[in-house]
Amino acid sequence: MSNKLQSINLNKVPNHIAIIMDGNGRWAKGRGMQRVFGHKNALTAVREAVAGASDIGTKYITLYAFSTENWNRPKLEVDALMSLLVSTLKKELPSFQENEIKINSIGNIDQLPKKTQKVLTNIIEETKKNTKITLTFALSYGSREEIVNAIKNISKKVVNNELDIEKIDENIINNHLYTFNLPDVDLMIRTSGEQRISNFLLWQMAYAELYFTEILWPDFRKENLFDAIIDYQNRERRFGKTSEQIDINE
Ligand code: IPE
Ligand code: IPE
Ligand code: MG
Repeated sequence: MSNKLQSINLNKVPNHIAIIMDGNGRWAKGRGMQRVFGHKNALTAVREAVAGASDIGTKYITLYAFSTENWNRPKLEVDALMSLLVSTLKKELPSFQENEIKINSIGNIDQLPKKTQKVLTNIIEETKKNTKITLTFALSYGSREEIVNAIKNISKKVVNNELDIEKIDENIINNHLYTFNLPDVDLMIRTSGEQRISNFLLWQMAYAELYFTEILWPDFRKENLFDAIIDYQNRERRFGKTSEQIDINE
């Protein structure tokens, strides 16, 4: 594993990594267990991903933990996920502090159970001075809902004469998204072999590199993150320019 870390160019790491943590249910089923067993075994992968990102100097990591569409799952599973979230956040607080992890959240947080909201707000407050890495949990998050919410808030400002319609630009929109305090995503990783975005950070991933792996989320370890980073570093991000233009600037 240290070999993999050594192959990484630390001057070219993604600043913001977003992960769609998928495959918990299949991981559990493969062991003849209930889906919730998979969610319970996802914590090691979360720790490894965050520690790996921190090792290489990535400043932002965003984890898709619960989507707006996930509310449509059986109530038993939704309830289990919510209580798992509360217990995990509480349990991990000392480690967040020790590793200087700042916790952040994006999504329609008002929709979460009051208890979850309370614990989340508390953890965000407790860790706000940490500066090594920002760990954002996407909870009750949907990119389309986020955009609708942004449009409503921008429209209110226009109606109240606080904002001139001609001043609306990409920056204004960015500032009204849940991710207003986060940079664009550089690398998006999805586990479990599914190759789709599932309503995650559509605006923010406009120019992200996408990486898909067959690994099921509970099996994800640092070395899998490093594989993704090595793959990312072998790509050329052109942002619309030509390859020759990129070579000159390097
Ligand atoms: C991802 O694993 C976790 C959440 C969506 C909360 P899944 O629960 O989607 O697992 P699969 O895709 O059914 O295997
Ligand atoms: C996406 O996973 C949401 C999270 C990982 C939280 P899903 O497993 O819900 O996605 P789809 O519905 O299969 O695309
Ligand atoms: Mg899934």
